[in-house]
Parts: sequence; C-alpha cells; structure tokens
Amino acid sequence: MSFKKILFLLATGASLTSLGIVGCTPQQRDFEAGTQPSTLTGQTETSTPAPTTQPQERPGDVPFVPTPQSVVDAMLEVAKVGKDDVLYDLGSGDGRIVNTAAQKYGTRGVGIDINPELVQEARENAEKAGVADRVQFVQQDLFKSDFSEATVVTLYLLPDINLKLRPQLLQQLKPGTRIVSHAFTMGDWEPEQTLQVDGRTIYYWVVPEEVPANLR
Ligand SMILES: C[S@@+](CC[C@H](N)C(=O)[O-])C[C@H]1O[C@@H](n2cnc3c(N)ncnc32)[C@H](O)[C@@H]1O
Repeated sequence: MSFKKILFLLATGASLTSLGIVGCTPQQRDFEAGTQPSTLTGQTETSTPAPTTQPQERPGDVPFVPTPQSVVDAMLEVAKVGKDDVLYDLGSGDGRIVNTAAQKYGTRGVGIDINPELVQEARENAEKAGVADRVQFVQQDLFKSDFSEATVVTLYLLPDINLKLRPQLLQQLKPGTRIVSHAFTMGDWEPEQTLQVDGRTIYYWVVPEEVPANLR
C-alpha cells in the first residue's frame, strides 16, 4: 500500500490538524529507519519501565496519527475500562490511550510501538501525567509481541493490518477480552458495537469462548 493511500485511510479517521502534525512527527522516519525488538520480560512490573530504546529494525506498518482525545475517551468508555483491567495499545504512538486509561481509571497499561522516538515520548507523557508507576511502553514489533495478559486491547492501525493481526489476537487473548478499534474493522468478524464520535467510527468486539473457524 502506498504511503499516500495509508495517509488517506488514516485521514478518514483523522483531522487535517492531526495530519498536519503527522508531517512533522517521526512518522516519516517510521518508514525509513529500522529496529530491534525488545523483550516484554517483566512487563507487568510497571514500577520500573524498561528505560532503553533500540534503533528501529524495520519500518512501521502504519504511520503515527494520534487518536483525538474525545475518541480516546469514548474507546475507554465503550470497553468499560476499570482499575482491574490491563490495557494494551498495539501501536501506542505518544501513549495517549494507555496514559488516559491509567489517569482516569487507574488501569494498568502497556503500550507497544516499533518507533523508539514515540516510545520515549510516551514514557515522558506518562511521567507528566503522573502515571509512570502504572504503565509501561515497550519498543517492539506488535506482530512479535505477547499481549496475552491483556483484558482490553486498543487499536488504531489499518484495515489490512487489523486483519493480519486478527489470528494473533484470537490465539493469544483470553475469552472475554475486549478489543476496541478506532476507524477500522476486522474483516468478517462482526463487531458487537459500532459507534460514532466526532465523525470517527469506533468498533468493539469481545473475544468469544469458541473462535469460529473462519476467524482463525
Ligand atoms: C495510527 S498510530 C496510533 C497511535 C495511538 N494508538 C493512537 O491511537 O493515538 C499507529 C502507531 O502504530 C505504530 N506501529 C506501526 N507498525 C507497528 C508495528 N509493526 N509494531 C508496533 N507498532 C507499530 C506506529 O509507530 C504508530 O505509532
């Protein structure tokens, strides 16, 4: 998929302002630099987040376009996020979903992003928000990640990336885990809820006890 088309797709869920921001964020470098995956070992010990980042081993699959705050709030509301949840944002960008959940609901969270500059920015934002003890930002390729401890997963990726990720989500996540996606569906997996917020669409699924063969 061309860079132009990717931006267009994300723009269907992103304001011109945020696209303007994109032009001066590390997203271009997402497509040019390369990375080394880090380990998630100790990811639940949120009091000491992994302090390091590595050079990026490969370009990201999706550029950084932030979810507007009103949409972040609605995504957390539809999933009924609470203090006992463990929220994973796959492709966490500047950390706003994980940090908002921790700040508003006391949720423990993990953000995974392939881009070291965004991982660093997300950690700094967690410090500023006073939630660094509850969250962790890990530099890793989401396709090589173990997010099986999640009770809530959030996504703002692209339709083909959601689809590629679907078997991994359904294999790793426990039945009952909630998944919320900004803007993009998950192929023929029908969402349980679809809502509109400020011109954006939010999709909500719950991992079933028995995964139908067509979704694996
Ligand atoms: C559209 S942004 C969403 C950021 C944030 N989740 C939000 O909603 O504001 C997508 C993010 O996914 C990251 N990303 C792209 N491909 C990735 C991959 N293979 N593994 C981990 N992160 C990835 C990008 O660096 C970017 O920060």
